[in-house]
Amino acid sequence: MACSSFMNLNASSSQWINQRSIPSCPFSNRRIFLVRAGAYNDELVKTAKTIASPGRGILAIDESNATCGKRLASIGLDNTEANRQAYRQLLLTTPGLGEYISGAILFEETLYQSTTDGKKFVDCLIVQNIVPGIKVDKGLVPLPGSNNESWCQGLDGLASRSAEYYKQGARFAKWRTVVSIPCGPSALAVKEAAWGLARYAAISQNNGLVPIVEPEILLDGVHPIERTLEVAERVWSEVFYYLAENNVMVEGILLKPSMITPGAEHKEKASPDTIANYTITMLRRRVPPAVPGIMFLSGGQSEVQATLNLNAMNQTLNPWHVSFSYARALQNTVLKTWKGQPENIELAQKALLKRAKANSLAQLGKYSADGESDHAKKGMFDKGYTY
Ligand code: 13P
Repeated sequence: MACSSFMNLNASSSQWINQRSIPSCPFSNRRIFLVRAGAYNDELVKTAKTIASPGRGILAIDESNATCGKRLASIGLDNTEANRQAYRQLLLTTPGLGEYISGAILFEETLYQSTTDGKKFVDCLIVQNIVPGIKVDKGLVPLPGSNNESWCQGLDGLASRSAEYYKQGARFAKWRTVVSIPCGPSALAVKEAAWGLARYAAISQNNGLVPIVEPEILLDGVHPIERTLEVAERVWSEVFYYLAENNVMVEGILLKPSMITPGAEHKEKASPDTIANYTITMLRRRVPPAVPGIMFLSGGQSEVQATLNLNAMNQTLNPWHVSFSYARALQNTVLKTWKGQPENIELAQKALLKRAKANSLAQLGKYSADGESDHAKKGMFDKGYTY
């Protein structure tokens, strides 16, 4: 029997299986490890494909309570559980949302919450064919030994938390770590970011959750676009190195990169065509075509800018579904329209649908910024932003 026939990638066991002796194989006295498909592999591929479906993208509303508090404070509301619930209810019960949104990333509190009339938020999503997702990282803390950089916590207990989230209806996960260009980035920070993402991705897949892999390269800095490209190439090559080392199945992941732009304080702005060109170049150099979806973060760009850049990226044929997973670039106008007043809910939901539709068109390469308001063109960059 030939050695290669032992590589049974379709077997159903979730285990790495052990040795066999292979009579005609030159290494027959060695232990051979066979890769068997994980228990959730088919489901992971299906979930990833559903999220990466044409004309749809992700609504990210996974702000920690502290960050959600900042959003609420911007419209004069206190950071209470009731106010967070009211805001999330507005977003998640928007009629027609499922036409443009394929997944919603929730914070843990929201995953277990219901509407004021008792309907689970998870069920509000499922009826619209929107896949519920969950932020699983525990946030950023200083990385000792680095150049004032940070690392992302959350691996302890992640397997059991993920299993619980799955039972609660989550089918994908998010882990956001950051890399700072002005701080280096140091080799240590890049390695730590990549390794943490890979461990998290393996644990997520083992528990039925499609991992969103998000090494956000922060917009902060005065550097030109070429420097962002260089750093992004370095970061993504390490991420894929460690994903492979951790036996992560790339058909069952989604990526959440930052777009390749100049630093926010660089003297010149780049056009959507330039940003698209640099970003797609980076992806082509670093990302296998087996990855089903690239779901960009907005990173502090204005609503219109984030949509224009996505639209420009979809002017070419890409091997992946190139789409959005925006928080600020989908929520900003909604918040300002709502202002915490029940009588504004309908208008605020219309504002959400408008942004979701614009990004849906951008996913298809058919968006035009004609008629967009000045407000939607206002940047939201925040120095040293935390999530
Ligand atoms: P922004 O689109 O606001 O950058 O959000 C990023 C994010 O990670 C949300 O899940």
